[in-house]
Amino acid sequence: MRIGQYQLENCLIAAPMAGITDRPFRSLCYSMGAGMTVSEMLSSNPQVWKTDKSRLRMVHSDEPGIRSVQIAGNDPDDMAAAARINVESGAQVIDINMGCPAKKVNRKLAGSALLRYPDLVKSILSAVVKAVDVPVTLKIRTGWSPEERNCIEIAKLAEDCGIQALTIHGRTRTCLFNGEAEYDSIRTVKQTVAIPIIANGDITDPLKARAVLDYTGADALMIGRAAQGRPWIFREIQHYLDTGELLPPMPIAEVQRIMLSHVQELHDFYGQGKGARIARKHVSWYLREHAPDDQFRRTFNAIEEASVQLEALEAFFENFCVNKR
Ligand SMILES: Cc1cc2nc3c(=O)[nH]c(=O)nc-3n(C[C@H](O)[C@H](O)[C@H](O)COP(=O)(O)O)c2cc1C
Repeated sequence: MRIGQYQLENCLIAAPMAGITDRPFRSLCYSMGAGMTVSEMLSSNPQVWKTDKSRLRMVHSDEPGIRSVQIAGNDPDDMAAAARINVESGAQVIDINMGCPAKKVNRKLAGSALLRYPDLVKSILSAVVKAVDVPVTLKIRTGWSPEERNCIEIAKLAEDCGIQALTIHGRTRTCLFNGEAEYDSIRTVKQTVAIPIIANGDITDPLKARAVLDYTGADALMIGRAAQGRPWIFREIQHYLDTGELLPPMPIAEVQRIMLSHVQELHDFYGQGKGARIARKHVSWYLREHAPDDQFRRTFNAIEEASVQLEALEAFFENFCVNKR
């Protein structure tokens, strides 16, 4: 899989997820076998670039892997400026968000709301492609609603504007995250345009990954929620794609090592207080399988101090191993 001049290590991409795919998570996904990761979306509104939130979301040139940064907005000039700023700060690929279903974003006619306005889509894509000399990619849903499914029109337009890869989440905006993602639209788009197509939505395990690749003919897969608390899913899928065999479940000692180092990274990246708060959701995802009752999570979520969080996790695993003996 190639995006412009960049050759990906494999065809598995970690999805942009606001509040989740921060720098520590992206680094972890790379180390667990992702071929590329995409940053959380950054608003194109220049007034928010200087906020702490946006500053932390920007990528920097010392990050591992291919640095793809996602931008969202509705003004072609602002989007072009945001793309330029991010390239200056180290982005190697610019991804444009036209998939976000959030009301807060859609109200400003950004994210998936743009799919209803192909002329505006064209102006934004052309402006961004012209503004930077790195590859520009686009992420969409299949349309605004099942009655307005226009991903084929948008894909052709994207190709004409010089977009170098297109990710399609197999749901419309009005579907939100309900029901199941469908792959027929992705398959039709793949048969219609020549640019690389990345299939997204509900890819939860190696067998599903194989099936979606085969059915859609997509060049790559993007994985979001299934990587939460399971970043090793990339390694599991890649192994299955390479050998047709499933890896054994991740040993608990490895889960402990990965999770503790992730939590430590969050503390270091965000600072102790904010880092501890952000770590809570990740820990609850990691422990979904191992602490099915809520007792530990409730106690853990009440902890404010970073060092106490790490001690609590060490103690959890010690108890877990004693109980398993
Ligand atoms: C918490 C959360 C945050 C997300 N944030 C973004 C985002 O910033 N930009 C974007 O394009 N998609 C975003 N998405 C959508 C995902 O990238 C992906 O398209 C969607 O989750 C479907 O893939 P999955 O079934 O593998 O999770 C987000 C999804 C979730 C669950």
